[in-house]
Amino acid sequence: MEYLQIEGGNRLRGEIRVSGMKNSALPVIFATVLIKDECIIENVPRVSDVFCALDILTSMGARVEWCEKHTVLIDTSWLCGEVKEYEKISKMRASSYLMGVLLARFDSVKIPMPGGCNFGGRPIEQHLKGFCLLGAECLENNGFVEICAKKHLKSTKITLDKISVGATINIVLASVLLDGVTTIDNCAIEPHVDDVICFLNRAGAKVIRKGRRIYCEGVSSLHGVKYRIFPDMIEALTYFTMLGATGGDITLTGVNYEHLSYSAIIFQSMGMCVDSYYDEVRLRAFDRLSGARVVTAPYPFFPTDLHPQFAAMLCFTKDGGEVREEIFPSRFAYISELERMGANITKSNNVARVLPSELYAASTYATDLRAGAALVVGALGASGQSTINNVNYIVRGYEDLTGKISSLGGKIKLLKGE
Ligand code: EPU
Repeated sequence: MEYLQIEGGNRLRGEIRVSGMKNSALPVIFATVLIKDECIIENVPRVSDVFCALDILTSMGARVEWCEKHTVLIDTSWLCGEVKEYEKISKMRASSYLMGVLLARFDSVKIPMPGGCNFGGRPIEQHLKGFCLLGAECLENNGFVEICAKKHLKSTKITLDKISVGATINIVLASVLLDGVTTIDNCAIEPHVDDVICFLNRAGAKVIRKGRRIYCEGVSSLHGVKYRIFPDMIEALTYFTMLGATGGDITLTGVNYEHLSYSAIIFQSMGMCVDSYYDEVRLRAFDRLSGARVVTAPYPFFPTDLHPQFAAMLCFTKDGGEVREEIFPSRFAYISELERMGANITKSNNVARVLPSELYAASTYATDLRAGAALVVGALGASGQSTINNVNYIVRGYEDLTGKISSLGGKIKLLKGE
């Protein structure tokens, strides 16, 4: 098993390039199922969830070739509608997008219930509600979900009861090839949603998002396309939290500042200098930051995917602060791991209250992707040499974490254990 060894207490300095966004690369990869032609996707992050999604499509008959380090060609012309990689599907949340695309292409789909990170139930009833309103029949049985079009699916009006990134994207995927216009109200407006819409439109779809409403006018077919994935806002913001923990002067290149701006203002209010210029952002922090209180909420507000890393960073601030979690009520497993390093965090209901403390080295375990990233933030700011186990969670979503942190002067090694 691999683990990370981090020697904390070094200021970060230098420049790194932010990778493509995992949470839009995954639905774009699955969306190629709707296109019986060659698609070339650029800026694909080399993270394990992406490799897993590509394996799932390959096992179903897709042709997948890496043309360059971050460019992948996918041709699903000869895809069969039966899924094979049950284990990979059941470990991965994004495999839920197979429901939308296979339903659209083959009129029916049966997949194991999609899994995901370990922070409580991850229901899919909003996805199923959308499919049912389009005319499908949905059945959950023995750990599988089965969906089939009773007759032909029909465009319709759908209002989500809850804002959901996954349900929004899945319903778009299921609707792009239907006759007529499907509207989705109360939709998610995360950049990942827009990334998928841009991809589909470049392939010939007619999808428009206006605020929290999406109009999806069906087209008869889609064509091959060359498309570049948006930069990963969560990866970029994770580096903000690392800088907040260590201090220093770093530049992130290849970012879309608009996606970062809500959170960037919070970091600025805490005393971090944030300067954006075209697709770069320079971050500077030399004194301890002051504290902050944040509440997670759907985009454009503070992202739940930054919650654990932000809480870890608060340990190193002058005043501490709090994070109120409004999306995933169980996303607090990182607290007990940070406590091993001396963090002083109390949880009450859905709020983590963080007091400033001097963190020291410890051996810790990542419990999910962002909780793992929080431990990296903690270890970089702590004194001494920490280890982080269960690295497999972290590599699901952070490309070349050790290479990037090392190039900023952080002391981090990926080592092999027994
Ligand atoms: N929800 C329901 N019913 C549904 C769908 C969602 O109640 O049918 C609830 C969820 O339980 C949650 C809220 O709605 O409380 C939002 O869930 P959403 O559907 O938006 O999340 P998701 O699509 O499952 C994606 C990302 C997550 C990210 C969330 C929120 C992927 C593969 N995952 O999940 O990313 O936290 O959106 O932005 O895109 C991560 O990258 O670490 C990660 C967990």
